[in-house]
Amino acid sequence: MCGIVGYIGTKNTKEILLEGLKELEYRGYDSAGIAVLQGDDFSDFKAVGKLVNLEEKTKEFITDKFAVGIGHTRWATHGKPTELNAHPHLGESSYVVHNGIIENYVELKRELQDSGITFLSQTDTEVIVHQFEKNLKTSENAFEAFQQTIQEIKGAYAVLLVTKSEPGTIFFAKYGSPMLVGINAENEKYFASSDTPLIGSCSDVNYFEDGDYGYVTADEIIIFDKDSQQKEPVFSKLSTNKLSAQKDGYRFFMEKEIYEQSTVIADTLLGRLGEDEILFDELPGDLFDGVNEIKLCACGTSYHSALSASYLFERYSKTRTSVEIASEFRYREPLMSKDTLFVVISQSGETADTLETLKMAKQAGLKTLAICNVDNSSMVRLADATILTRAGIEKGVASTKAFATQVIVFWMLSLYVAKSKNSLSSQKIAEHIALLREVPASVKVDDEMHEKLKRLSKRYLHGHGFFFIGRDIFFPLALEGALKLKEISYLHAEGYPSGEMKHGPIALADPELFTIALLPKHLHYEKAKSNVEELSARDSTICAISAEEFSKADDFIQIASHEHYMLEFFEMMVVLQLLSLEISVRLGNDVDMPRNLAKSVTVE
Ligand code: AGP
Repeated sequence: MCGIVGYIGTKNTKEILLEGLKELEYRGYDSAGIAVLQGDDFSDFKAVGKLVNLEEKTKEFITDKFAVGIGHTRWATHGKPTELNAHPHLGESSYVVHNGIIENYVELKRELQDSGITFLSQTDTEVIVHQFEKNLKTSENAFEAFQQTIQEIKGAYAVLLVTKSEPGTIFFAKYGSPMLVGINAENEKYFASSDTPLIGSCSDVNYFEDGDYGYVTADEIIIFDKDSQQKEPVFSKLSTNKLSAQKDGYRFFMEKEIYEQSTVIADTLLGRLGEDEILFDELPGDLFDGVNEIKLCACGTSYHSALSASYLFERYSKTRTSVEIASEFRYREPLMSKDTLFVVISQSGETADTLETLKMAKQAGLKTLAICNVDNSSMVRLADATILTRAGIEKGVASTKAFATQVIVFWMLSLYVAKSKNSLSSQKIAEHIALLREVPASVKVDDEMHEKLKRLSKRYLHGHGFFFIGRDIFFPLALEGALKLKEISYLHAEGYPSGEMKHGPIALADPELFTIALLPKHLHYEKAKSNVEELSARDSTICAISAEEFSKADDFIQIASHEHYMLEFFEMMVVLQLLSLEISVRLGNDVDMPRNLAKSVTVE
């Protein structure tokens, strides 16, 4: 998730911008930059890596008079983390910073290049400043040019723009990505992506709403809404606790990351959904040429998303797919053939076992693909191609939004391959794309559901263990639900295929055995239901999760009735994540930093 700051005032603008960016480091980034306009002098600085590199570059730079300034920390989604791709992006006499994704940047960029504009970066963001300066040539004033530019771009954005043609002004626009403006008694104006950087500097803040745009000077804040009607800023008092601000008011980063899955998945989908095709402009067109098998390799939660993917690839892409646990694959002297596409899945891109298998595959001459959340990570640098999941930084050790975005990417990839292999009709692909568009809504946390899970969690604090059971693609989801519980509650749990329970585990059935049963309506419902009835008949304590009422369960969690099993998958995923979180809270564990665990296992 990128971070944005802005400042208008007479204090040390450089320091204010750098301090503000430091407060946004928790959002994760791979490069940063600032631009300051003092009178007629524009200065800009950018650096790859941590903020100390940017501080080093700006140490001789003095800002001791009235200035407007903008700053940015970048989490790469389009284009590698390089200085050229770092924000702010420059036109001829304007700078822009942006958080989000410009969905129509390809066509805008092509039109601008055809008109002779030279682009320096690979980013989508750069189109904003060039489009603004193009409009400036034919507009009455800078604000009109900015207003027109915002009407021309599509996607998600929080934008700050400064220009020599209005030296004391910052133009802003917000749609889909957060941003706010803060004020204080000294008539200064502060912008930021979240309130953390403003704590201690501002007394009151106005959170922009989707569609808001306008400009701010030392003396005024002018806001227009999505209907271009001017509106007054609505100020609220600023929270004073930085850590809780970073958690946006949630109790834990994990909770925040569960709640933000809806917006984050929208980012993952952005720019990749055509009418009846998936658009991965980051993939070489020939990646799947000659590929007869896909081998997926990962650890932990990433292994579970890989296992989920195998069902989608074989069902929709009609491509033989195998899944490996990286630490096993490394040492079993595996046979690999060159018609296999080797895919590593990793949130961090640094997991040692997974990275080693990627090296083995490259050594064996296979084509490789990384599904990863961190650009410029070891796996991204090594793989032939990468699809970024765009989940933003995941602070909770127990993975949630990373898993969700991995499965989304795999669902899209299965359709992408299906198109190229003609294993699905365009009509069918279009139907799946319509379903993908519904996922953000299906993972939105329902407060009533969360309250119910909070109450229910008190019943599951002991017992001699949990089984999470599901069939088909709900089996890897059951594995993931069990891992979530183990990781943060330290209670024993295992995921099992529903149909396997009668081959041994059912011997454990008694009231102290808790079974969390996933019962999707649209996939093998009757079979899964009879497996659960076998357990219930032996007095197991059953918690059923389904859209369909299930009388034989001791506890029943009803999800919405969706039209497709993949929407049931994502809603059940949220239920499992929240149930584990609430059990862990009751047990008094450190939800974000569970004992014995690290966020990225970079050693064997
Ligand atoms: C999952 O909640 C854990 N954080 C862990 O299993 C994790 O998925 C695993 O270590 C793999 O990490 P990676 O995705 O960064 O490779």
